[in-house]
Amino acid sequence: MRLDRFLSNLPRFSRKDVRLALLAGRVRVDGIVTKDPLHEVRIFSQVMVDDDVLQIGKPARYFMLHKPPGCVSATHDPQHPTVLDLLDEPEKDDLHIAGRLDFNTSGLMLITNDGQWSRRLTQPTTKLPKVYYVETEQVIGEHYVEKFAEGFYFAFEDLTTLPARLILLGSHRARLSIVEGRYHQVKRMFGFFDNKVVALHRESMGPLSLDPELAPGQYRALRADEIELI
Ligand code: URA
Repeated sequence: MRLDRFLSNLPRFSRKDVRLALLAGRVRVDGIVTKDPLHEVRIFSQVMVDDDVLQIGKPARYFMLHKPPGCVSATHDPQHPTVLDLLDEPEKDDLHIAGRLDFNTSGLMLITNDGQWSRRLTQPTTKLPKVYYVETEQVIGEHYVEKFAEGFYFAFEDLTTLPARLILLGSHRARLSIVEGRYHQVKRMFGFFDNKVVALHRESMGPLSLDPELAPGQYRALRADEIELI
């Protein structure tokens, strides 16, 4: 929300008070004097006028989890354990998943309460590659590579997938880099060749790779330098 609106929504300030307080340099956001009425105030921002704290600012939280197969990428599920069940953190209702994985997919899962950050990570327009290790039931042919680069038509969404990079690792193993996260995308891509994905593991999302120290089911907070990469 804009800073001037945030302030004038508070009962103690008229619009005129807000203008004057901003001009006089009495308003600080995250400790910095801010005179711009359009400055963005988020739930994470600390807002002060003189020595009064008007909003404390929630801490922004970012976690990396090694998702094991057999748990759901949802906040609640009546039947199965969810990825959030694996987190021993307060206020879990504030958290959301940046880029879901299927029930049996394992690997890197990022969880946060910062919607702007997770959108940057998952929007196809930002073109951040998501890298998957894939094992299939049938042999992966050389000719797959060109088709993945060309794109697959997904009738349900009426779109063609953006160019993807497939690297063959063995007769039934490959590494795949995609910049989107369509529903069951990897499985549907291999499905084009009637080749069933039997194991799927996400290794990285953009510049963030799964920490090899994390066993399946374990998680850790992201470091400041990792958060800033997105
Ligand atoms: N593509 C899939 O098909 N499944 C996932 O879990 C992730 C990408």
